[in-house]
Amino acid sequence: MKFENILVEKNDFKAVVTINRPSKLNALNKSTLSEINQAFAEIESDQNIKIVILTGSGEKAFVAGADISEFADFDVQEGQSLAAQGQQMVFDRIANFKKPVIAAINGFALGGGLELAMAAHFRIASDNAKMGLPETSLGVIPGYGGTQRLSQLIGKGRAMEMIMTAGMIDAKTAHSYGLVNHVTSPEELLDLANSLADKIAKNSIVAIGFAIEAINANDEDGINGFEKEIENFGKSFGTEDFKEGTSAFLEKRKANFPNR
Ligand code: COA
Repeated sequence: MKFENILVEKNDFKAVVTINRPSKLNALNKSTLSEINQAFAEIESDQNIKIVILTGSGEKAFVAGADISEFADFDVQEGQSLAAQGQQMVFDRIANFKKPVIAAINGFALGGGLELAMAAHFRIASDNAKMGLPETSLGVIPGYGGTQRLSQLIGKGRAMEMIMTAGMIDAKTAHSYGLVNHVTSPEELLDLANSLADKIAKNSIVAIGFAIEAINANDEDGINGFEKEIENFGKSFGTEDFKEGTSAFLEKRKANFPNR
């Protein structure tokens, strides 16, 4: 599929989704969000793709936020629909995606940009990256899951401070907060994302999908994470990957997962 605001490169079992509006620091306008949604729908049904790497185009930004020019004259109702549609269409979809999604933060990740990175399953960053939720400086609050996911990832007190000050933290601080797992030079960022993806792809993607669902259950109201773990642990026993993984171990060979 041809997109105007994003690039999707498929390389073997990996898909790299690059937000590609560098002249606007990759800000998320409506059509970019719609294209991200379409790209993930396509990747979901592509049996060959096991892992997604999400990054931004250019040297300056991952994503500098939601496109402020598009919502500057919105009223209460329009503001609510913007957040609801965005969360449902893109951010929750990525967070609950059954294939692993790694965010490679290559510069500014602000507002909706940090929310996009936080929707991914984990994050790595280049040492020039800057992260923040500056919405209160614009008179709004984070609307794409930021108030929830930032406190889940770094703790309530730090999230409160970052959102109240509307300030930015550097990659080193983000690493010390546990917001990003690794920090590299800008040149090495995608190499690291690819090598982590290669390592992950050696394992059962079906089992990883079950694990993502169980881990996410921890943050969902009304769902008992331990029960979800029991349910998905049981489900794993019904997969071809389980048969292959255990047989390979017993036969002292490397598993070759069919991903079913
Ligand atoms: N929405 C819309 N356009 C944006 C944008 C956003 N979130 N972030 C950057 N841009 C645009 C700028 O308007 C500018 O466009 P122009 O050249 O047509 O004027 C272009 O991207 C480059 O940005 P600029 O501000 O000139 O770069 P800078 O290096 O001086 O500053 C930032 C970089 C990230 C500090 C600054 O762009 C910024 O504060 N952006 C908004 C961040 C934000 O509040 N995000 C949360 C939104 S809810």
